[in-house]
Amino acid sequence: MSRASLPGEWRIELLAKSHNRQQFDCGNTSVNDWLKKSALQSQSKRLTSTKVLIGTTSRIFGFYTLAMAQVDFADLPSTIAKSLPRRQLPVAVIAWLGVDIAFQSHGVGKRLLANALKDCFEASEVFAFVAVVLDCVDSNAKMFYQRFDFAELPGYPMRLYLTYRQLQQMMQA
Ligand SMILES: CC(C)(COP(=O)(O)OP(=O)(O)OC[C@H]1O[C@@H](n2cnc3c(N)ncnc32)[C@H](O)[C@@H]1OP(=O)(O)O)[C@@H](O)C(=O)NCCC(=O)NCCS
Repeated sequence: MSRASLPGEWRIELLAKSHNRQQFDCGNTSVNDWLKKSALQSQSKRLTSTKVLIGTTSRIFGFYTLAMAQVDFADLPSTIAKSLPRRQLPVAVIAWLGVDIAFQSHGVGKRLLANALKDCFEASEVFAFVAVVLDCVDSNAKMFYQRFDFAELPGYPMRLYLTYRQLQQMMQA
């Protein structure tokens, strides 16, 4: 996936108390509420990690949250599962992703997704996983992710995955 370019003064950093979470509005209440009410606490408990896109102020233009999880062998498509042990298997999770309405449709979501996948790939050098998975908040989110090669997990219409091999190929392209 090629990276959309952002103005030089924009940067992506780990969510901190100093960031203005309350002003953020991506148009989806669940995604907004996660950032405003839960992301920082979850991060301090070491359950998830959230990165925000900011400019020269504390305003958040967009963010994504990553986590680790396990999926059952039986839930993976046979193409991936055939060579894997029959047990719970480690996966990286893109738990949340959102772009403020004021900045949507300018390549910011694509840039954040590319960064999230890069973070996953770098983490995989230390903590191995077999796929990146995510749960879509709605059908719009699903269409967004499907543009970037995420496929439906059989039996779970709103859960998408990207195999580790696909991730590796993307990062090496
Ligand atoms: C989904 C979301 C992150 C997209 O962010 P964005 O900054 O508007 O997206 P981009 O401008 O980077 O779009 C990248 C590409 O995806 C396409 N795209 C964007 N939203 C899309 C959608 N809902 N369905 C299909 N394609 C979509 C764009 O047309 C663009 O295509 P291109 O590369 O051919 O030009 C944003 O709309 C959002 O925050 N939505 C609410 C929260 C949400 O649904 N989060 C995801 C699940 S947690």
